[in-house]
Amino acid sequence: MDVGCGTGLFTFELARIVGSTGRVVGLDPCPEMLARAREKCARTPFRDAVEFLEGTAVELPFPDGSFDCVATAFTLHTVPDLEKALSEMIRVVRPGGRVVNLESARPRIPELKQVYSFYLGRVMPFTGRVLRRLRVGPPGFLEYFARSLQKLPDQQEMRDLFSRLGLADVRCYELDGGIAAVQVGVKEFGFP
Ligand SMILES: C[S@@+](CC[C@H](N)C(=O)[O-])C[C@H]1O[C@@H](n2cnc3c(N)ncnc32)[C@H](O)[C@@H]1O
Repeated sequence: MDVGCGTGLFTFELARIVGSTGRVVGLDPCPEMLARAREKCARTPFRDAVEFLEGTAVELPFPDGSFDCVATAFTLHTVPDLEKALSEMIRVVRPGGRVVNLESARPRIPELKQVYSFYLGRVMPFTGRVLRRLRVGPPGFLEYFARSLQKLPDQQEMRDLFSRLGLADVRCYELDGGIAAVQVGVKEFGFP
Protein backbone atom coordinates (compact mmCIF):
# COMPACT_ATOMS: atom_id res chain seq x y z
CA MET A 1 0.00 0.00 0.00
CA ASP A 2 1.07 3.56 -0.68
CA VAL A 3 -0.28 5.77 2.11
CA GLY A 4 -0.86 9.38 0.98
CA CYS A 5 -0.53 8.41 -2.67
CA GLY A 6 -1.45 11.83 -4.10
CA THR A 7 -1.56 11.57 -7.86
CA GLY A 8 0.16 8.17 -7.82
CA LEU A 9 3.79 8.95 -8.63
CA PHE A 10 5.17 6.64 -5.92
CA THR A 11 2.31 4.14 -6.30
CA PHE A 12 3.35 3.48 -9.90
CA GLU A 13 6.93 2.83 -8.74
CA LEU A 14 5.60 0.29 -6.22
CA ALA A 15 3.52 -1.31 -9.00
CA ARG A 16 6.68 -1.62 -11.10
CA ILE A 17 8.39 -3.39 -8.18
CA VAL A 18 5.60 -5.89 -7.40
CA GLY A 19 5.36 -6.88 -11.07
CA SER A 20 2.52 -8.46 -12.97
CA THR A 21 1.40 -10.82 -10.17
CA GLY A 22 1.38 -8.20 -7.41
CA ARG A 23 -1.23 -5.67 -6.37
CA VAL A 24 -0.91 -2.15 -4.97
CA VAL A 25 -3.41 0.04 -3.17
CA GLY A 26 -2.93 3.82 -3.23
CA LEU A 27 -4.74 5.59 -0.40
CA ASP A 28 -5.34 9.32 0.04
CA PRO A 29 -7.98 11.48 1.76
CA CYS A 30 -8.17 13.95 -1.15
CA PRO A 31 -10.71 13.00 -3.87
CA GLU A 32 -9.18 15.40 -6.41
CA MET A 33 -5.76 13.77 -6.04
CA LEU A 34 -7.34 10.33 -6.40
CA ALA A 35 -9.26 11.34 -9.53
CA ARG A 36 -6.01 12.50 -11.13
CA ALA A 37 -4.24 9.29 -10.00
CA ARG A 38 -6.95 7.09 -11.54
CA GLU A 39 -6.85 9.07 -14.76
CA LYS A 40 -3.05 8.66 -15.00
CA CYS A 41 -3.23 4.99 -13.99
CA ALA A 42 -5.61 4.17 -16.85
CA ARG A 43 -2.79 5.09 -19.24
CA THR A 44 -0.14 2.87 -17.56
CA PRO A 45 0.60 -0.85 -17.84
CA PHE A 46 -0.32 -1.08 -14.11
CA ARG A 47 -4.02 -0.31 -14.56
CA ASP A 48 -5.19 -3.79 -13.49
CA ALA A 49 -2.76 -4.07 -10.58
CA VAL A 50 -3.45 -0.75 -8.85
CA GLU A 51 -6.50 0.43 -6.96
CA PHE A 52 -6.93 3.93 -5.52
CA LEU A 53 -9.03 4.36 -2.38
CA GLU A 54 -10.08 7.28 -0.22
CA GLY A 55 -8.94 7.14 3.41
CA THR A 56 -6.67 8.58 6.06
CA ALA A 57 -3.37 7.30 7.45
CA VAL A 58 -4.62 7.57 11.02
CA GLU A 59 -7.45 5.10 10.43
CA LEU A 60 -6.49 2.70 7.66
CA PRO A 61 -9.60 0.91 6.35
CA PHE A 62 -8.03 -2.58 6.31
CA PRO A 63 -7.86 -5.56 8.67
CA ASP A 64 -4.63 -6.40 10.51
CA GLY A 65 -1.87 -7.97 8.40
CA SER A 66 -3.39 -7.18 4.99
CA PHE A 67 -0.20 -6.11 3.13
CA ASP A 68 3.32 -7.40 2.47
CA CYS A 69 4.59 -3.83 2.53
CA VAL A 70 3.11 -0.51 3.62
CA ALA A 71 4.98 2.48 2.26
CA THR A 72 4.55 6.22 2.29
CA ALA A 73 6.32 9.07 0.52
CA PHE A 74 6.43 12.76 1.47
CA THR A 75 3.22 12.39 3.44
CA LEU A 76 3.95 11.92 7.15
CA HIS A 77 4.71 15.63 7.61
CA THR A 78 1.06 16.40 6.74
CA VAL A 79 -0.49 13.79 9.03
CA PRO A 80 -2.02 15.16 12.25
CA ASP A 81 -0.88 12.28 14.51
CA LEU A 82 2.40 10.77 13.33
CA GLU A 83 2.54 7.96 15.90
CA LYS A 84 -1.03 6.92 15.21
CA ALA A 85 -0.34 6.85 11.45
CA LEU A 86 2.80 4.72 11.89
CA SER A 87 0.97 2.38 14.30
CA GLU A 88 -1.77 1.95 11.73
CA MET A 89 0.81 1.19 9.01
CA ILE A 90 2.37 -1.42 11.29
CA ARG A 91 -1.03 -2.92 12.13
CA VAL A 92 -2.01 -3.53 8.50
CA VAL A 93 1.34 -5.00 7.42
CA ARG A 94 1.71 -8.77 7.79
CA PRO A 95 4.26 -10.29 10.19
CA GLY A 96 7.54 -10.44 8.26
CA GLY A 97 6.43 -7.50 6.09
CA ARG A 98 8.01 -4.06 5.83
CA VAL A 99 7.03 -0.51 6.69
CA VAL A 100 8.79 2.13 4.59
CA ASN A 101 8.87 5.91 4.87
CA LEU A 102 10.43 8.25 2.30
CA GLU A 103 10.33 11.81 3.57
CA SER A 104 12.12 15.14 3.59
CA ALA A 105 14.88 15.14 6.21
CA ARG A 106 17.60 17.41 7.62
CA PRO A 107 20.90 17.62 5.77
CA ARG A 108 23.86 16.92 8.03
CA ILE A 109 26.59 18.51 5.91
CA PRO A 110 27.03 21.90 7.70
CA GLU A 111 26.90 24.09 4.54
CA LEU A 112 23.86 22.29 3.18
CA LYS A 113 22.23 22.41 6.61
CA GLN A 114 22.49 26.21 6.68
CA VAL A 115 21.14 26.61 3.15
CA TYR A 116 18.25 24.25 3.90
CA SER A 117 17.30 25.95 7.15
CA PHE A 118 17.43 29.39 5.42
CA TYR A 119 15.26 27.96 2.63
CA LEU A 120 12.65 26.55 5.05
CA GLY A 121 12.70 29.46 7.49
CA ARG A 122 12.92 32.37 5.06
CA VAL A 123 12.62 31.55 1.35
CA MET A 124 9.51 29.38 1.54
CA PRO A 125 7.52 31.70 3.85
CA PHE A 126 8.53 34.72 1.72
CA THR A 127 7.52 32.95 -1.51
CA GLY A 128 4.30 31.93 0.25
CA ARG A 129 3.49 35.56 1.09
CA VAL A 130 4.15 36.61 -2.52
CA LEU A 131 1.92 33.82 -3.85
CA ARG A 132 -0.80 34.75 -1.37
CA ARG A 133 -0.73 38.35 -2.61
CA LEU A 134 -0.92 37.09 -6.21
CA ARG A 135 -3.74 34.73 -5.15
CA VAL A 136 -1.87 31.70 -6.48
CA GLY A 137 -2.78 28.38 -4.81
CA PRO A 138 -4.64 27.87 -1.52
CA PRO A 139 -3.80 30.66 0.98
CA GLY A 140 -0.90 29.80 3.26
CA PHE A 141 0.01 26.49 1.65
CA LEU A 142 3.76 27.15 1.41
CA GLU A 143 3.95 28.55 4.96
CA TYR A 144 2.12 25.43 6.16
CA PHE A 145 4.49 23.21 4.18
CA ALA A 146 7.57 24.91 5.69
CA ARG A 147 6.15 24.72 9.25
CA SER A 148 5.19 21.07 8.94
CA LEU A 149 8.66 20.13 7.65
CA GLN A 150 10.28 22.02 10.54
CA LYS A 151 8.10 20.14 13.06
CA LEU A 152 8.84 16.72 11.56
CA PRO A 153 11.32 14.56 13.52
CA ASP A 154 14.67 14.34 11.74
CA GLN A 155 15.75 11.13 10.02
CA GLN A 156 17.43 9.59 13.09
CA GLU A 157 14.50 10.49 15.38
CA MET A 158 12.18 8.91 12.81
CA ARG A 159 14.32 5.77 12.80
CA ASP A 160 14.15 5.68 16.62
CA LEU A 161 10.36 6.09 16.45
CA PHE A 162 10.14 3.09 14.11
CA SER A 163 12.05 1.04 16.72
CA ARG A 164 10.03 2.40 19.66
CA LEU A 165 6.81 1.37 17.91
CA GLY A 166 8.13 -2.20 17.78
CA LEU A 167 9.61 -2.58 14.29
CA ALA A 168 12.77 -4.67 14.03
CA ASP A 169 15.93 -4.34 11.92
CA VAL A 170 15.21 -0.63 11.38
CA ARG A 171 17.44 1.09 8.86
CA CYS A 172 17.74 4.67 7.71
CA TYR A 173 19.17 5.63 4.32
CA GLU A 174 19.98 9.25 3.62
CA LEU A 175 19.53 10.60 0.09
CA ASP A 176 21.06 13.66 -1.56
CA GLY A 177 23.17 14.69 1.44
CA GLY A 178 20.28 14.13 3.87
CA ILE A 179 17.68 16.36 2.19
CA ALA A 180 15.53 13.23 2.08
CA ALA A 181 15.75 9.91 3.91
CA VAL A 182 14.17 6.47 3.87
CA GLN A 183 13.40 4.41 6.99
CA VAL A 184 12.65 0.72 6.63
CA GLY A 185 11.51 -1.55 9.45
CA VAL A 186 10.31 -5.16 9.65
CA LYS A 187 7.24 -6.31 11.60
CA GLU A 188 8.46 -9.40 13.39
CA PHE A 189 6.46 -12.59 13.76
CA GLY A 190 4.81 -12.50 17.19
CA PHE A 191 4.49 -8.69 17.09
CA PRO A 192 2.24 -7.76 20.02
C1 LIG B 1 3.19 15.92 -0.77
S1 LIG B 1 1.88 14.84 -1.20
C2 LIG B 1 2.77 13.35 -1.61
C3 LIG B 1 2.05 12.54 -2.62
C4 LIG B 1 2.78 11.28 -3.11
N1 LIG B 1 3.09 10.37 -2.04
C5 LIG B 1 4.03 11.62 -3.87
O1 LIG B 1 5.14 11.41 -3.34
O2 LIG B 1 3.93 12.12 -5.01
C6 LIG B 1 1.16 14.46 0.37
C7 LIG B 1 -0.13 13.67 0.26
O3 LIG B 1 -0.56 13.32 1.57
C8 LIG B 1 -1.96 13.33 1.56
N2 LIG B 1 -2.45 13.40 2.95
C9 LIG B 1 -2.72 14.49 3.70
N3 LIG B 1 -3.19 14.12 4.90
C10 LIG B 1 -3.22 12.77 4.90
C11 LIG B 1 -3.65 11.78 5.85
N4 LIG B 1 -4.14 12.13 7.05
N5 LIG B 1 -3.57 10.47 5.50
C12 LIG B 1 -3.06 10.10 4.29
N6 LIG B 1 -2.66 10.99 3.36
C13 LIG B 1 -2.73 12.29 3.67
C14 LIG B 1 -2.32 14.54 0.72
O4 LIG B 1 -3.66 14.49 0.25
C15 LIG B 1 -1.28 14.44 -0.39
O5 LIG B 1 -1.76 13.73 -1.49
